Amino acid sequence: MKAQFVVLDGDGIGPEVTEQAVAVLMAVAGKHGHDFTFEHGLIGGAAIDAVGDPLPSETIAAGHAADAVLLGAVGGPRWDDPTSHIRPEQGLLGLRRELGVFANVRPIRVFPELAAASPLRPEIVSGTDILFYRELTGGIYFGDSGTDDDGAFQVMRYSKVEVERIVRMAADAAQTRRGRLTMVDKANVLEPSRLWRRVAGDLIAEEYPNLAYDVVLVDAMAMYLLSHPAEFDVVVTSNLFGDILTDEASMLTGSLGMLPSASIGSSGPGLYEPVHGSAPDIAGRGLANPLAAILAAAMALRHSLGLEKEAISVEAAVASILAAGLRTADIAADGASVSTTVMGQAVVEALD
Ligand code: IPM
Ligand code: MN
Repeated sequence: MKAQFVVLDGDGIGPEVTEQAVAVLMAVAGKHGHDFTFEHGLIGGAAIDAVGDPLPSETIAAGHAADAVLLGAVGGPRWDDPTSHIRPEQGLLGLRRELGVFANVRPIRVFPELAAASPLRPEIVSGTDILFYRELTGGIYFGDSGTDDDGAFQVMRYSKVEVERIVRMAADAAQTRRGRLTMVDKANVLEPSRLWRRVAGDLIAEEYPNLAYDVVLVDAMAMYLLSHPAEFDVVVTSNLFGDILTDEASMLTGSLGMLPSASIGSSGPGLYEPVHGSAPDIAGRGLANPLAAILAAAMALRHSLGLEKEAISVEAAVASILAAGLRTADIAADGASVSTTVMGQAVVEALD
């Protein structure tokens, strides 16, 4: 098939890891007879430096015209001036909003070979396989905000439709997995959480009566992720809670450097990125783990192009090089490690 990817390197380790993801996609195209083209665009700090805007209109237009958008990472200390109103993160948030990708899907799967790399005991993390659905285009991230002489505020607001569409997506996923859906909120304190609880509860009772559905308060969830993570299947939650809980959950797998994410809407291109950030401390040194970006590319094959077989071949290649003992520094424990490019090339060579 023919497919057009837009590649947005962004900042820090972004360019290094997306380069490997593109190399893997090109190899997949070659092996399976597809015609993939790649167009590069600016976002984040790199876009601020080049054109003074973290989300240039050309990037938005290219994104809309693409089949899938691959993103590296945005942000870094260079653009951290608290008095500046232009920040790299605005590029990413704006792009999510522009593309209407309201569901951020973050799989947290513990590769058996890496269980020892987790700061938690292997018997706690082993068997963990959680699929997070984080609401991505609403809530406090996009609420009215302001500052005055002695304070600042930001509004958390959700509509019924915003809750329904992501809960439905998460419920659909739970039906194809172990049949359990957990909704995380703070309904003992926050009004928008009480809306989530009502709307999600009604929808599940009506449309998904066979799911094992439960609700957990976010503070308790932070604890349960460390005490019994393997019991969860699909977890759905709002934007801010999902941001925090998925970083926490990433540690179950040993490294944030392993985790991909897919952001999808009801139609149009998806946005695929590693969960990790721009890691400015290791940028440009060949130390970054490209596996999250490569696994994000696999999610693009699956979710945006419908190429399930190809997605599985990439995931299998990643599993096989891990089994063979290849490690970047973040997952090396105390053993030897390889560079970003060696790791990416190994995945290419392991493709069947
Ligand atoms: C993420 C990141 C972003 C977020 C930042 C970079 C704006 O932390 O994708 O989780 O908060 O959504
Ligand atoms: Mn985050």
